[in-house]
Amino acid sequence: MHNSKPDRKNYINQIKNNNYLRNIPIDMLTGLLDNPYEGLILIDTKGIIRFVNNATDGAYLKPAKDCTGRHISEISPESKMLRVLKTGKAEIVRSMTFNNKNCMLLRFPLIKDGRIIGVAGKFLTISPENIKELYDRIDDLKNNINFYKKTLNQLYYSRYTFDNIIGNSLLIKKVKALALQTAKTDSSVLITGESGTGKELLAHSIHHFSHRKNNNFVSINCASIPEELIESELFGYTPGSFTNASKQGKIGKFELANKGTMFLDEIGDMRPLMQVKLMRVLQERVIERIGGKPRHIDFRLVSATNRNLENMVQKKDFRLDLFYRLNVVSIKMPALREIKEDIPLIFEHFLDKFRRKEQRPDIEMAPEVLKAIQLYSWPGNVRELKNVVERATIICLGNQIKLDDLPACFRKKQFSNAFINTSSTEMSLKDLMEKTEQEAIINALKKTGNNKVKAAKLLNIHRTGLYQKTKKYNIT
Ligand SMILES: Nc1ncnc2c1ncn2[C@@H]1O[C@H](COP(=O)(O)OP(=O)(O)OP(=O)(O)O)[C@@H](O)[C@H]1O
Ligand SMILES: [Mg+2]
Repeated sequence: MHNSKPDRKNYINQIKNNNYLRNIPIDMLTGLLDNPYEGLILIDTKGIIRFVNNATDGAYLKPAKDCTGRHISEISPESKMLRVLKTGKAEIVRSMTFNNKNCMLLRFPLIKDGRIIGVAGKFLTISPENIKELYDRIDDLKNNINFYKKTLNQLYYSRYTFDNIIGNSLLIKKVKALALQTAKTDSSVLITGESGTGKELLAHSIHHFSHRKNNNFVSINCASIPEELIESELFGYTPGSFTNASKQGKIGKFELANKGTMFLDEIGDMRPLMQVKLMRVLQERVIERIGGKPRHIDFRLVSATNRNLENMVQKKDFRLDLFYRLNVVSIKMPALREIKEDIPLIFEHFLDKFRRKEQRPDIEMAPEVLKAIQLYSWPGNVRELKNVVERATIICLGNQIKLDDLPACFRKKQFSNAFINTSSTEMSLKDLMEKTEQEAIINALKKTGNNKVKAAKLLNIHRTGLYQKTKKYNIT
């Protein structure tokens, strides 16, 4: 890694050992110090001016010739040179004017044997053209940064709010109330619940309602990061830190989430190595880019899983300490069958959405459908409900969604009767399956007025699959 200190030491030694420099006649040296285009002032550790050249004339309360020996505050009460004496850090004032000239001011510590022995101030006179060029470049860079900030924000923002979570049942109301209350704090939230119950929706809403709302909402799918990429995905890397590393380096997800919310999805499917890495970040809130320095990150953690983490902890598949860290506030999303009273409302919500999307404003649901959807157990929860409504809106022929427009599982009785009828003939299983498949395809095509895209959707198979099968069975 590049380290500037040894380099500087080497450089100073080089100067010291440079015979030519040592033998520069004193007149020549003073000439260098008295460069008319570079004002120079030197103070010692007490702030006493030891040298000041003529080019600084006009910058201080006294003429240059009367400055030496005085305290810097006497000739420049606002001078920041004393600050550099304290911090030891060089400073650049990009632009200032004195004597009607544009100038750049540098202040830097003078160091001998590792100790500060004074501070130098240097005025570099630069032409207005130089400054304009500089400002133009800064403007360009600013524009670029704004563009990237916006793009980043579009990528990492919360897409949903509590209003997107539909439901009036007591359970949903309780979930929303708890989430609202927690959103305002910085506590870690663990969202549990079956697949398709709206865990991701809730995570977005929590961010949206928090004081971090204007910063990034960064989401990681813990199940999908390969072991060898965990480190670079989560923490990033500095340029050239390993072979194949990109030239610009890479910003890690945690760094992106600084001041915002980190959403760890499918946390129950995380690899053991990632559990270890994560535990460290959660404990210390410090991340380290590969090849870089440690950096403090301020983020709010929301995680979600459809697995039973307590069971996993007992089986030693999930670290207990990590579980405690994640599970400060725990919110369980109810399964759809637990909020039966909300089913018609959510159905209606999606129906409205797909009415507009499919441009079929008059579609309604038949009373028999209302009954069927309330009796059904919805193992895929709201996601399944949404798909069912979308499919029904597409294939429904008239203006009313009928039981026939729902998937077969809603018409179990009819389905099994049809199957028994065909199976009573003496057919091989293969023939029987092919016949059933053929009939199903013909039915779907009839129902959708020969629209293959819609028919494929109705059969829940891919379009290309349907093309292959119509070819196979010679269905026109
Ligand atoms: N209460 C709700 N109101 C409206 N839409 C909902 C609701 N719950 C879920 N959805 C919708 O259902 C779909 C699934 O939701 P989401 O992705 O949040 O589920 P999940 O719990 O994260 O599922 P998984 O465990 O499979 O990741 C999304 O399209 C979401 O918008
Ligand atoms: Mg999810």
